[in-house]
Amino acid sequence: MKKILVTRRLLRSSEDKASKIFDAKFNTNDELYSQEKLIKLSAGCDGILSALTDKLDAETINKLPESVKILSNFAVGFGNIDLEAAKKRKIIVTNTPEVLTDATAEIGILLILGACRRAPEGIEAAKASNWKWSADYLIGKQLTGTRLGILGMGRIGRKIASIAKSLGMIIHYHNRSKLSNDKEDGAIYHKDLKSFLSVSDVLSVCCPATKETTDLINKETLEYLPPGAVVTNVARGDIVNDEALIEALNRRKIYAVGLDVYKGEPNLNPGYLRHKSAFILPHLGSASKHTRTAMADLAIDNIDEFFKSGSCKNKVN
Ligand code: GLV
Repeated sequence: MKKILVTRRLLRSSEDKASKIFDAKFNTNDELYSQEKLIKLSAGCDGILSALTDKLDAETINKLPESVKILSNFAVGFGNIDLEAAKKRKIIVTNTPEVLTDATAEIGILLILGACRRAPEGIEAAKASNWKWSADYLIGKQLTGTRLGILGMGRIGRKIASIAKSLGMIIHYHNRSKLSNDKEDGAIYHKDLKSFLSVSDVLSVCCPATKETTDLINKETLEYLPPGAVVTNVARGDIVNDEALIEALNRRKIYAVGLDVYKGEPNLNPGYLRHKSAFILPHLGSASKHTRTAMADLAIDNIDEFFKSGSCKNKVN
């Protein structure tokens, strides 16, 4: 039986599944392992089922025991892993695409709705029972007829686009390359980032965090957005420069933000906490029982497939 280290606690049914296939070492207290502890615990392991909270940088990867051959990340994103360093050590890295598309798109839509319709202010007033209905009370931005810019039209971006379209939004997108007509489904492609941002009344950040996308939404690019635009992010905090976004919120260039992900999670920039127009969630994208089970099952299957066949369809490096 292959031996694996599971760095974070999984739902019970997923741990049961892993124990049937592997000699699995679980994290019963769900503590956040330091890099040293993770290295130590992986002694004698053939693989690691990691989570987005594990920082598997080059230094950590280089110190992993020779026996480790696979890092199966329990996430679609893999910005927490240095892919090149893993490749150099002949360690394959896998992720869990597709199974979390719908759940994450739901949160993407929630962010758009929450930010546009002033949910944070509404929730606060309802809880304080100090609100008075009037014709102009907490008037927000309606989505009907509003242009939605999808930055990164992958699976999650396309699902958000299709729901948003049914809400009457007009979809624009920016990708490295134009999609087929079928995948585009009527959305308008912009090769140029500036042209894309200039029509994004609501921006939905859906692209992976890479060296190229780090801080892509920054002081300069925020200026390309129409005045009073709404910025939402369901992908990774690294793509947005927080200081620039908070500054743009402060001077009302940006009307509201809807965020599920942050640089340096869980310590988000306090500037967001002070803002009544910041609709903020604690990285809930894939947080449903159905999806978390499917993700863990896939992360387990990825390891199994790799040990049985020497490769894996969800390999990313
Ligand atoms: C969640 O953020 C994921 O990448 O799966």
